[in-house]
Amino acid sequence: MNCRSKFLIAAGMLAFVSFRALADGDPARGEKLAYTCMGCHGIENYQNAYPAYSVPRLGGQQPAYIVSALEQYQSGSRPHPTMRGFASSLDAEDRADLAAYFSAQVPPAAGPEPVGTAPPQAEPCGACHGRNGRGTTPDYPNIGGQHSDYIAHALNAYRLGKRKNPIMAPLAQPLTPEDIEALAEYFSAQPGLQTPRQD
Ligand code: HEC
Ligand code: HEC
Repeated sequence: MNCRSKFLIAAGMLAFVSFRALADGDPARGEKLAYTCMGCHGIENYQNAYPAYSVPRLGGQQPAYIVSALEQYQSGSRPHPTMRGFASSLDAEDRADLAAYFSAQVPPAAGPEPVGTAPPQAEPCGACHGRNGRGTTPDYPNIGGQHSDYIAHALNAYRLGKRKNPIMAPLAQPLTPEDIEALAEYFSAQPGLQTPRQD
């Protein structure tokens, strides 16, 4: 075996190992770590102050997306001083364990058809977020069942470039306030994300 193929095999194993580490986050350890998070995320309809909007629901969120969001708060590419503070104290294992815990709070089964009639503006969203707000791959967040004011807040953050995301920015840019309201109302009405409970 030459050097190059040995290198490729080693690189492949490394990729495999890091994927396993994420997939195998320990939900029991995550539950303990989540104790500090529940003061906001565990209270139904808890509000962020200045500006006021609902703290997002994490129960049943995609684990890869939870990890990615935490990394973005830590790096500052998503601005939020409080979340930056919390995210900065976490290492990769903590993020994977928290993600395993929150994502295991499985939402009630969605019917085959979405609830209500999708507004025409929701047409392009389905490819990634599903017509019923369930991400079509682990990288695409679930938005079904999210608080409607948080969906609107997130869309505005992408639209105004406060959240720097190369996929969502061009999709959000052309949206009017009326479009955002219709999209937020439709996706929040789908069964899906929940406020996590800690027993
Ligand atoms: C003081 C209240 C507070 C605490 C405590 C808190 N968060 Fe948050 N979290 C927020 C708010 C507010 C947002 C929305 C920020 C924004 O506008 O992007 C958020 C966003 C998030 C998001 C992104 C969700 C999404 O759908 O985009 C994740 C993931 C998250 N928090 C995880 C955690 C974890 C894990 C902890 C504990 C280590 C934690 N949070 C502690 C208030 C809090
Ligand atoms: C090509 C795939 C794709 C399409 C199409 C798409 N999105 Fe997204 N969306 C993403 C990705 C990836 C993210 C995560 C971005 C990040 O990390 O901040 C995201 C994030 C979001 C969020 C933030 C979720 C949260 O919890 O903070 C909302 C809300 C959202 N999208 C709504 C929409 C709507 C409404 C449409 C249709 C107008 C749409 N998206 C179209 C891929 C897509």
